[in-house]
Amino acid sequence: MIAGINLAKQSKQAAVSLAQKRFAHDLIVSPKTGRTIIKTGAGGRSSSNGHVVTVFGCTGFLGRYLVNRLARDGAHVIVPYRDEDDMRHLKVMGDLGKIVPMEIHLRNKESLEAAIRHSDTVYNLLGRDYETKNFSFADVHVEAAGVLAELSQKHDVERFIQVSAMNADIDSASRFLSTKAQGEELVRSIFPSATIVRPSFMYGQEDRFLARLAMSRGLSIRINGGNTKVRPVNVSDVAGAMNKMLEGSNTVGETFELVGDKEYTYRELLDFIKEITNLDIGDVNVPKPVASLIAKAMNLLPWQTLGADEIERMMIDDKLTGVKTFADLEMEPTSLELTGIQYLRRFRTNLYSDEPLKKGVVGKKKTFHTSYL
Ligand SMILES: NC(=O)c1ccc[n+]([C@@H]2O[C@H](COP(=O)([O-])OP(=O)(O)OC[C@H]3O[C@@H](n4cnc5c(N)ncnc54)[C@H](OP(=O)(O)O)[C@@H]3O)[C@@H](O)[C@H]2O)c1
Repeated sequence: MIAGINLAKQSKQAAVSLAQKRFAHDLIVSPKTGRTIIKTGAGGRSSSNGHVVTVFGCTGFLGRYLVNRLARDGAHVIVPYRDEDDMRHLKVMGDLGKIVPMEIHLRNKESLEAAIRHSDTVYNLLGRDYETKNFSFADVHVEAAGVLAELSQKHDVERFIQVSAMNADIDSASRFLSTKAQGEELVRSIFPSATIVRPSFMYGQEDRFLARLAMSRGLSIRINGGNTKVRPVNVSDVAGAMNKMLEGSNTVGETFELVGDKEYTYRELLDFIKEITNLDIGDVNVPKPVASLIAKAMNLLPWQTLGADEIERMMIDDKLTGVKTFADLEMEPTSLELTGIQYLRRFRTNLYSDEPLKKGVVGKKKTFHTSYL
């Protein structure tokens, strides 16, 4: 018995001393700045991987997943915020003192500089699906991205990772996408080794993609006959890929298109949502000019609605352009068909519980993988 306890003590001591030892690979000297990054501890949340990272846009949807990943791996994460309430949930994602909130304003350079000054990596996730009276698409996607890239160069930041969007194109009919492309160009011209990330529509627990389609309940507007092809990607996959980019020297100066495992039309996605939720989603195809007009009128409301520019985006097929993908990070995207139930279950009608048990076949024909049943 005593011998067993001693053995356990010894192995614990051995593990502790191993965790406290330093190895050559625990020390990285930045070739760009000469700065040293020193790892301490056995790895994980309570150790330090030596990185100090700033995540602009951390209070958004992707931001919370990325901050969680970075902090879980022992990075110090600076979380710039506008509204204190929006960043509170981020504080508990890292060990004590590892998450450092800093108040910023995009038009106050000193505040941005303070958030960048100590970091070796800056992620720029700033973005908006709609314009406000204070900030246009260009203000957020181009001007702010340029300022952050400039300040990062000034303060010898090692890596700059810029989040753009799938289908970003200077000539796009969508101003969201054309400004995203301008932002990419500007960032590259200022910070040539920047990594550009273009995610497709992201889905997850708090998304504005599946949830919006499911919430349209009685009436869902189909644009383009529901024929636009998209490749929705799981937000956790995008955050995981961006976390990997922190260490991956093969991602420097590259562009990544992060898309889901399969292509769907909006019509197929609605069918999928209907099968899972049992919602009676009616579908009306609305011609684009009418939809844009309705969206413009709805945009006068004081709360966020479907923007006119989002109608434009709903007309554009996701097209891969041959740049790097998940495969280059040795990752496989999660299947929407296998995991969609997690995000859609909450939309199920109470009628679902009254139905007899189904045996793997939904409705008349089985169109999707049945593991979500
Ligand atoms: N979600 C998608 O499906 C999708 C698809 C393709 C590309 N993207 C891009 O991926 C990035 C992250 O997406 P997301 O869904 O996480 O976006 P999100 O939830 O809308 O979050 C956007 C973030 O940007 C910040 N931001 C926006 N305007 C700002 C301003 N004027 N001043 C200061 N901060 C501002 C927001 O801060 P506040 O919280 O203070 O507002 C928030 O932290 C964005 O660049 C987005 O354009 C997203």
